[in-house]
Amino acid sequence: MKRTHHCSQLRASDKGSIVTLSGWVDSVRDHGGILFVDLRDREGRTQIVLDPSNPGLESKFGSIKPESVISVSGRVDERFGGTANSKLATGEIEVHATELRILNVSKTPPFPMDDSADKVGEDLRMTYRYLDLRRAANTRMLRMRHKTSKAIRDFMDAQDFIEVETPILFKSTPEGAREFLVPSRMNPGAFYALPQSPQQYKQMLMVGGVERYYQLARCFRDEDLRADRQPEFTQLDIELSFIDREDMYELIEGLMRQVWKEVIGVDIETPFLRMSYFEAMNRFGVDKPDLRFEMELQDCNEIFAQSGFKVFSGAIESGGSVKAINAKGLGDITQGELRSLEDAAKSLGAKGLAFIKCQDGEWKSPIIKFFSEAEKAALKNALDIEDGDIVFFAATEWERACTILGRVRLEAAQLLVKRGTLTINPNEYKFLWVIEFPLMLFDEDAQRFVASHHPFTAPVPEDVDLLDSDPKAVRGQHYDLVLNGVELGGGSIRIHQPALQKKVFEDVLKIPADVVESRFGYMLKAFEYGAPPHGGIAFGLDRMVTILTQRSSIRDVIAFPKNQKGQEMMTSSPGIATEQQLRDLHVKSVLPKKDAQGPNKPAGD
Ligand code: AMO
Ligand code: AMP
Repeated sequence: MKRTHHCSQLRASDKGSIVTLSGWVDSVRDHGGILFVDLRDREGRTQIVLDPSNPGLESKFGSIKPESVISVSGRVDERFGGTANSKLATGEIEVHATELRILNVSKTPPFPMDDSADKVGEDLRMTYRYLDLRRAANTRMLRMRHKTSKAIRDFMDAQDFIEVETPILFKSTPEGAREFLVPSRMNPGAFYALPQSPQQYKQMLMVGGVERYYQLARCFRDEDLRADRQPEFTQLDIELSFIDREDMYELIEGLMRQVWKEVIGVDIETPFLRMSYFEAMNRFGVDKPDLRFEMELQDCNEIFAQSGFKVFSGAIESGGSVKAINAKGLGDITQGELRSLEDAAKSLGAKGLAFIKCQDGEWKSPIIKFFSEAEKAALKNALDIEDGDIVFFAATEWERACTILGRVRLEAAQLLVKRGTLTINPNEYKFLWVIEFPLMLFDEDAQRFVASHHPFTAPVPEDVDLLDSDPKAVRGQHYDLVLNGVELGGGSIRIHQPALQKKVFEDVLKIPADVVESRFGYMLKAFEYGAPPHGGIAFGLDRMVTILTQRSSIRDVIAFPKNQKGQEMMTSSPGIATEQQLRDLHVKSVLPKKDAQGPNKPAGD
């Protein structure tokens, strides 16, 4: 009994054909002894009619249970008038089985294989991920993920890129995130680290003359997990020689155009908008703005410089900013919603979240009494304040004030979406290059500069001289590609001159010379043997697929994702190592046995 068709294929025009279908019992209904089975495979569903008057069938009816695997042969027939199912691709027909083979009987599954399973706990679905993956939405997701990587590979191949695999067993790198360490049995006391990204290897490939490299690379970061972060994830990693930023923008815009077209049939507009980091922060309060709605931050320093309200004028006096945002139409905000906005602001270091509500031509606010008529008039004008609006303020250092209101902007937008007064269209794709990031940030705790992205990013040529005098003012040749509020990817033109790279490590980042030598010595050496100018970028493939499939978390687009505690529930990973394994690896566990984290403990989140 070889399968002749998939369960999505048969139509009225196949009437009379003898076919064989195989798959899972999606549902079974008994109509007076005749069984109507919806048979499901990867491609779709077909109705099978099992009539006990056919010899040999009835004795197997006991095994026809949801999720049992069966094979049937029989004749395709048109459904009786009125019983056709227009929602099903194969709804015009049914197969009258004359042969039935039970290939495997299923126990009752812990949740149904349809959309209602979304309501059961994620840990339960992940424990039975093989069942979860049978659901049509997940089959579709896996196929779209495959289509995405295929579109990427086709494009990169057509552009003469070579896919090169780089090692997974690597060593510690300074890219920021915490790493996963792997003890080396053959080198007692030494550890590999799993790569956070193939950054250093891909730069070495450029020195190696590869010129155009890409890889769908698995990366590992031991970070606290969120909806857009997994401890292992996939990057589309790219590096090219002899290019500048403009070449990169053009290449990536072409790539995105092709991926969007092939995967979801959407034509996206290029070239993408560009915005400096400063402008993105100043107008949207975040370095990855969602441009599908407006609600911009406004500067109020001019209005309040001389204000009697010391919270505002004081902030300006000490070099900070007063920023405001008008959440249009959110004047009906509830106490609870207001409190949660305040909590969000406070979690970002706000002392408070001053606001003004405008109702029936009247302004209501605990701080309104401090404002002069001129200040009110200027505010009304600057923020276009009308009945039904609520305006929020943040008065503190510029960057913090922007960040606080950036968060308020996103949360207020969600509240407006809930009220139906704002639409954020999931089918709108607002790509944006964010550029001119500061090369360095000052780490107050460590009292030194740290690379804002990674230490291999080249400074903007006209800022190189500032490296000694004013490192904070140096802009990097870094670029982020942002889409609808998500950082899809980022990269930079790299330093390729050994002297400049050494200067950044030692003089600017103040990494001790011996540490530079042990960690990056090979790189500085390589640069002395003719390193071409080069640059690259990396995209979060999981994030890209999440957007393309309009899912809410990258966990939804990974075949076997990890939960918030970094556990993969189906196989119960990570697991406990045996004494013998630890001995072989020259590793000693300092954890009392009773505290050992059993892999089966659910995360409870
Ligand atoms: P970066 O650290 O910005 O750059 O990473 C590039 C992109 O990878 C995705 N990403 C993640 N996706 C899922 N889970 C995570 N934990 C996670 N962390 C990052 C994001 C991000 O934009 N070597 C540089 C690139 C370069 O300079 O060429 C790098 O790794 O979408
Ligand atoms: P206070 O004078 O401290 O009672 O603050 C008056 C109002 O301003 C309260 O609603 C506070 O939440 C708010 N507020 C206090 N400090 C700030 C600040 N730095 N930025 C914005 N609002 C603030």
